[in-house]
Amino acid sequence: MPKPKPITPVPPEFTLEVDCLTNSAPFSAEARAFYEFFRDVEDRFELCLPRTFITTDLYLKALKLVSNIKFELDHVRSLLREERTLAASLFAGTGLYLEHFIKEFPPDGSGAAERTADHYGQLFPKMDDYNYYLEPYLTLEQRIKKNRLEHYFEDLDHKTALDAGCGGGRYTLALNRLGFGAVFGVDLSPENVVWAQSQALAKSIERVHYFKADVLAIPFAEQYFDFVLSLGVLHHTHDMNRGLREIYRVLKPGGVCYLSVMEKPGGVLMDVVELLRVVLGPVPPPYARRLLRAFGLKEFMVYHILDHLLVPIHHRTKPEELEKMLGQAGFSSWERLSRGGTFDTTERIHQCEKKGKLKDIQWKYGVGRNAYFVTK
Ligand SMILES: C[S@@+](CC[C@H](N)C(=O)[O-])C[C@H]1O[C@@H](n2cnc3c(N)ncnc32)[C@H](O)[C@@H]1O
Repeated sequence: MPKPKPITPVPPEFTLEVDCLTNSAPFSAEARAFYEFFRDVEDRFELCLPRTFITTDLYLKALKLVSNIKFELDHVRSLLREERTLAASLFAGTGLYLEHFIKEFPPDGSGAAERTADHYGQLFPKMDDYNYYLEPYLTLEQRIKKNRLEHYFEDLDHKTALDAGCGGGRYTLALNRLGFGAVFGVDLSPENVVWAQSQALAKSIERVHYFKADVLAIPFAEQYFDFVLSLGVLHHTHDMNRGLREIYRVLKPGGVCYLSVMEKPGGVLMDVVELLRVVLGPVPPPYARRLLRAFGLKEFMVYHILDHLLVPIHHRTKPEELEKMLGQAGFSSWERLSRGGTFDTTERIHQCEKKGKLKDIQWKYGVGRNAYFVTK
């Protein structure tokens, strides 16, 4: 039998920040044991399959845990312990040598930005119509209404909006549906841009334009936009400050940005995500995608699991850190949105507060989604 080739433990420029190891989380001992087990495990290509399996299993279980109204820290602890034990037995029993996969997916030597573009370019183009055309609009509408921001979204016909880091364009279309006169979507990934254009065309949607561009160097003149939306993008770049300065530059005076970046602390699901980056990081992305689809996961769930797990740069920010950065970028005021869509952690925190179910809520949901309405 040929000797298995080693694979790179994790690609270069792949961030591994694990907040719950240092923030006095009550499950930090279990998290550390989990982290160290995966950090120290010898890397062999045949472990890609069990790594992807453990990722799926733990992610789905963590998702269930935070969806339950009843929350026990002991469940987090035993989940991390059980998953580590399962991994140890799977790893010990795996002897399959998958040489053809190694040939098919050579180690990726490109930089973080190229890998980010490729990563997302492979995830969006398979979403179904509900998750692509409808759900983002409903979520955005809910976020606007719950935070009483409707007044801003009136008389939009003469306003121009930018979706900075638009992915497959699902929120770009939501902005169009809200009524903006012209909407532009930019993304690093050419696959996403082509896909987004084709989707607008398929439904004959007008006044939407897409470009391949970097949000750290937005190819528009100063004061071009009335509104900028940037959802889940800047935390994947190597310079969030520069991204904020760019958004500020292209906004008109008095213009507004709806910004969302990953928060810290982020609750159990984000903690699990950071731990799982150690598990899944060494698995070549095409192989991980293929396995998750083979496990029968719906495309939306494949996106959700891989979104944060295989992107090279994954950085979380405390609200106070982010607010300092907003001030430094030049913004005059901002509001941290305390409500959100059904699945937003801010909304879940709000609902728990309403029902008086506050036990361990900071560990369950962290500080809630870092979503801001920012004014130039
Ligand atoms: C998590 S996805 C979010 C996409 C979209 N905002 C949404 O919510 O559906 C992050 C997106 O940011 C894009 N991206 C990451 N870094 C970027 C950069 N420097 N410039 C432009 N787009 C970037 C990725 O290609 C990806 O499509």
